[in-house]
Amino acid sequence: MSGVHDLFGRPLRDLRVSVTDRCNMRCDYCMPAEVFGPDHAFLPRAEILTLEEIARVVRAAAGLGARKIRLTGGEPLLRRDLPGLVRLLAAVRGVEDLALTTNGLLLAGQARELRQAGLHRVTVSLDALHEGLFGRLTGSSRPVGDVVEGMKAAARSGLGVKVNCVVQRGVNEEEVLPLASLCREEGWVLRFIEFMDVGNHNRWERAAVVPSALLRDRLQEAFGLVQVEPACRGEVARRYGYADGRGEVGFVSSITEPFCRDCNRARLTADGRLVTCLFAAGGADLRGLLRDGRDDHALALFMRGVWEGRTDRYSELRAALPPGGHAKVEMSYVGG
Ligand code: GTP
Ligand code: 5AD
Ligand code: SF4
Ligand code: SF4
Repeated sequence: MSGVHDLFGRPLRDLRVSVTDRCNMRCDYCMPAEVFGPDHAFLPRAEILTLEEIARVVRAAAGLGARKIRLTGGEPLLRRDLPGLVRLLAAVRGVEDLALTTNGLLLAGQARELRQAGLHRVTVSLDALHEGLFGRLTGSSRPVGDVVEGMKAAARSGLGVKVNCVVQRGVNEEEVLPLASLCREEGWVLRFIEFMDVGNHNRWERAAVVPSALLRDRLQEAFGLVQVEPACRGEVARRYGYADGRGEVGFVSSITEPFCRDCNRARLTADGRLVTCLFAAGGADLRGLLRDGRDDHALALFMRGVWEGRTDRYSELRAALPPGGHAKVEMSYVGG
């Protein structure tokens, strides 16, 4: 099948696959502990796509033009036999970039095997290096050093390493320069992400967003920055190099500078729904098709139809929409 375009002419290039809705952290902006507590009903095993079902969707997406696959969660390293999935996906024709987004806690023990299975790179979420703050932000009792060790192990295994930091006003602004210094030393690309109104529980408010422009000024002052041209169309982060040539930093500014115009990303939830926007409501059920005996061609045709009808541009419309307007898919289902 040939490449597909949506109603605004945007191609499908990137499929982000959530492999589990579970996580071993409780970041307040994603899975607040009072909502995702001991009584929270996670998806039962039977409702979660099998590795082979995921591979079928990825093959269909690759046939429609997807080139970049990102495994996410929840926390993807909690999924049993993740290396087995990576092996399946690394063999899919058309997949040029196979990445994983993780909180890093379990990375040290799994990096080598994932690399050997065919994973190209990891992106680790890390909002604070300060021990107490790390614990408060993530609800984890494990030391932040475990995450840093995980990143180092990934780098030693030959995986590319990026770091994602969500900055919230008055919460972790002080962490920006220490994180930048660590990533410069280690040669890791760091991206600062504006706090977003994803999901339905994170009590988002505009006042808690630290605009990227402000952080950029701070880094400019501390280290000096030079703009880097985007490597390809639809890149999420605005990229900068440090003036001394040591390292790179990026800014994902979905609130102050929405980037829907070139959005080429689809998302697959752990229970098999195809979601065409991070802020969408429900998604199109693929699991039913997968378990209904339909062949790969029928699956691809259905996915083509979903993408061809797509008009999503939530971040561009955000300011004009009523607050708390519609129920959105949870971040732990679509993995950001
Ligand atoms: P690279 O391929 O390494 O450049 O990664 P990426 O650009 O795909 O970025 P990544 O997956 O690390 O996402 C970075 C942050 O941007 C995450 O917090 C995502 O939630 C956010 N993000 C990614 N895609 C979108 C999107 O389509 N819309 C919005 N609003 N945010 C996004
Ligand atoms: N706003 C911005 N980024 C978020 N992430 C999770 N929730 C939010 C939010 N509300 C980020 C995580 C991770 C990526 C997958 O999404 O920190 O880096
Ligand atoms: Fe877990 Fe990532 Fe959500 Fe934090 S942001 S709770 S680490 S899935
Ligand atoms: Fe794409 Fe939706 Fe994000 Fe816009 S808000 S960039 S359409 S995922």
